[in-house]
Amino acid sequence: MTSYHSEPHDFTDKRAGYEQLARQLQGLLEGETDPIANAANTAALIFDVLPAVSWTGFYFLRGGELIVGPFQGKPACVRIALGRGVCGTAAAKRETIIVPDVNAFPGHIACDAASQSEVVVPLIAAERLVGVLDLDSAELARFDAIDARGVERLAELYVRASRLEQLR
Ligand code: SME
Repeated sequence: MTSYHSEPHDFTDKRAGYEQLARQLQGLLEGETDPIANAANTAALIFDVLPAVSWTGFYFLRGGELIVGPFQGKPACVRIALGRGVCGTAAAKRETIIVPDVNAFPGHIACDAASQSEVVVPLIAAERLVGVLDLDSAELARFDAIDARGVERLAELYVRASRLEQLR
């Protein structure tokens, strides 16, 4: 990557917005394989570009639990057990979870009281669970299926670009 310039994004067409974001992420990760560096830039890009997002970041599976990695937003809960909260549930089920109202999600872990909705995408590399990518919003029902597919694509680009075995 050379230097980063914020591009104007128009998410009125969400799919087009995510395509532009995916291209930008690909450029940002090009030529770099360090998993922490790439996670930091991925979190920063998403946080800079996506409207109405209050927290964006990674939790990595280490020693059998999720531990917070690079993120943007307010300080967060550090350790989350598999199966707990939205992150731990997405990780245990290995599936993307969209939560339109976190107050209605049993076991939601409230790191930031302002968070109202959330989407969590599992990171899977060679069939191994590596962690999750978590996005929060202060708006209710901020994330829909198009966001989920868009964020899954970004997670996939991150996984493909990074030497995740270095995290073990
Ligand atoms: N709300 C998440 C915890 C992580 S924070 O949102 C950053 C959860 O329930 O897993």
